[in-house]
Amino acid sequence: MCGIVGYVGPRDSQDILIAGLARLEYRGYDSAGIAVIDGDGSLHSAKKAGKLAMLRDELASSPIAAGTTGIGHTRWATHGGPTDVNAHPHLADDDKLAVIHNGIIENFSELKAELLAEGYTFRSETDTEVSAVLLGREYSAHDGDLAAAFRAVVNRLEGAFTLLVMHQDHPGLVLGARRNSPLVIGLGEGENFLGSDVAAFVEHTRNALAIGQDQIAAITPEGVEVTDFAGNPVEAEPFEVKWDATAAEKGGWPSFMAKEISEEPEAVANTILGRVHDGKVVIPELDGMDELFAGISRIVIVGAGTAAYSALVGKYAIEQWARIPVDVELAHEFRYRDPLVGPDVLVISISQSGETMDTLMAVKEANRLGAKTLSICNTQGATIPRESDAVVYLHAGPEVAVASTKAFVAQITGLYLFALHVGRIRGTVSAEVQSEAIREFADLPEKIRWILENEQERIEQLAHWMADTRSVLFLGRHVGYPIALEGALKLKEISYIHAEGFAAGELKHGPIALVEPGLPVFVVVPSPSGAPTLHAKVVSNIQEIRARGARVIAIAEAGDAAVLPHADEVLRIPLAGPLFEPILAVVPLHIFAMGLANAKGLDVDQPRNLAKSVTVE
Ligand code: G6P
Repeated sequence: MCGIVGYVGPRDSQDILIAGLARLEYRGYDSAGIAVIDGDGSLHSAKKAGKLAMLRDELASSPIAAGTTGIGHTRWATHGGPTDVNAHPHLADDDKLAVIHNGIIENFSELKAELLAEGYTFRSETDTEVSAVLLGREYSAHDGDLAAAFRAVVNRLEGAFTLLVMHQDHPGLVLGARRNSPLVIGLGEGENFLGSDVAAFVEHTRNALAIGQDQIAAITPEGVEVTDFAGNPVEAEPFEVKWDATAAEKGGWPSFMAKEISEEPEAVANTILGRVHDGKVVIPELDGMDELFAGISRIVIVGAGTAAYSALVGKYAIEQWARIPVDVELAHEFRYRDPLVGPDVLVISISQSGETMDTLMAVKEANRLGAKTLSICNTQGATIPRESDAVVYLHAGPEVAVASTKAFVAQITGLYLFALHVGRIRGTVSAEVQSEAIREFADLPEKIRWILENEQERIEQLAHWMADTRSVLFLGRHVGYPIALEGALKLKEISYIHAEGFAAGELKHGPIALVEPGLPVFVVVPSPSGAPTLHAKVVSNIQEIRARGARVIAIAEAGDAAVLPHADEVLRIPLAGPLFEPILAVVPLHIFAMGLANAKGLDVDQPRNLAKSVTVE
C-alpha cells in the first residue's frame, strides 16, 4: 500500500527513484511522484495521477533538474482520490521541503484544523499534506534543525505511517520514520537508500538494515543513523537480501503473474529445502521451542485474503498430524472480538508480505494477550516476523503480481512442514507417516511442473472461450474447500467476474439455487484413493448440479474415471495423497484466472482497486 523510495549519494537520483518505484508499483499504482534536490540546493518535484508510466511521460515532456538526493512514491489512495494534486510528494515551507507517506494519519483532521486556524493553507485533500505543513511549522520552530522538527512531527501523529522527508537546506539528507508501516535501509558504498521493501534498492545493494517500530532513520552518502522518536540512538538489525534484482524482474514473461505461476514448483521446493533431516521434518528456526509446542492446547491461524485460505488448508494438516485443535480467523476479525487466547495458545500469522496491517494488528493483539506468536512469511525483515516470537520464512522469492500465487503453495507447504515438525515433537505422527509425507513433498515440484507442461495451454484456451462469462462457482470439500475459495478469489481479483467458492456439502443448503443452465462450476474432486467416501460424495454433488444444467469443469486426478461421465471438462492433476492434492489442484485455478483476465485484455499484475500489500486497516 504505497511504495516509498529514498536515495542519497553521488548519482543522479531520478533514474534510481523511478527504477525503485517500478519495483514497488505492486504496492499501489493510483499515482506516482518524485522530488529531488539539485546541485544548487533547490527542490524540484513532479507527480502524476495514474500508473508510473504517466509520471515517466510527464518527466520526458517536462524534465525536472537532476539531483543526487531524492524521494519517490507510488500511491494507493486512501485520503483523497487519485488525482495529480493528491499524488505525493507533498510540499511545504514555501516548497522547500517534500514529504511522502504510506499509511493513514488518523488524527489528521484535528491537526489540519489546528494548522488552518494558524493561517496555513492546503492544496490537497490528503492526510499526508498535513504532516508536510506541520513539518514546515516545526522546522521554523526548531530553527532549521530538520531532525528535531521531524521528531516533533512524528510524535504528534497517530495511526500508521512511513514518512520520508527532505529539505532543500539539507541536501544529502533524507529522513525516514515508521510506525506500523514498513521501511528498510539499503547500505551502499558512498550512497544509501530507504525503501518500503528491499525491492526498492536490491539492484544496487543486498545489504540492508531493518528499522524497528517508532524509529527514525537519517541517511546521508556517508552513513546511516537510527534513533527512536525521542532522538536516542538505537541499533538497527542488519540482514542480507537472499535474492537479486533479476528475481524481481519479468525475465521475458508476459506478466509477473505468469512468471510467478511458473515458479510454483520452485516455491514449494525452496520452502522444503533444508527442512528435512535424517528422514524427519525439522525446522531449524524452531529450535528450542519443543517445550512450547508440546504444551500448547490450541492454535489460532490469522491471515487475510489468499493467506487466510492457505491457513484453512493448513488446519487440516495440523489437526491430522499434530493433533492440536486449530481455529482459522480472518486477521481483521480476530482483533476486534476479544479473542480467547493466552499463554497456552500459539497464534500463527500467515503473510506473504509480512506487512498486512490487519495481520500485524492481530499479532500485536495476540502478543498483548500473552499468546506465543509464530510468523510464516515470505518477505525477509518484514514487520510481522519482527513482531513475532518466531518466524519460518518460505523462500518462495519475491512475489510482485498483486494476486498471490506461488506464495499460496509455499504457505501451504510451510504449514505442512510445521504440522510435521510439531507432530514429531508431540509424538502424534508416526515415522511411517513422516516418511510418506517427505516422499510426497519431494514429488510435488515435479507434479506441479507436469500440470504446467500438460494442462496450461488447454486451461488458457478454456479461459479464452469463457471470456464473456458473468459468474462462476467453485466447489470443493475437505482440503478442496479452501481451494474452491481461492479459485473464486483469484477470478474476482483479476478478471472482475462474479465468483463464489462453496463447500460442496453446503450446496444443497442454498447455493444450488444459483445454478442455472450454462453456469460454469469448477469442482475440486478429492482423490479417490485416500478418501473414497468424500470422492463419491463430490461425484454426487457434480451430478446434482449437472442435472440443473451447470457446465461442470472438474479438477481431478489423472486416472479418476468416475468423474468422466459427469463433467463437461476435466482438468487433470497428478496423483497425490489427499492432503497434498490442494497444492496441485490450485494450479489450474491460478492459470484459469490469469487466462481469463488475459482474454478480457486486463492488466493481470495490477488489477483495479487492489494493492499487494495492504498496510492500512
Ligand atoms: C491483499 C492482496 C492479496 C493477499 C492479501 C494478504 O489483499 O491483494 O492477494 O492475499 O493482501 O497479503 P499478505 O501479504 O499478508 O499475504
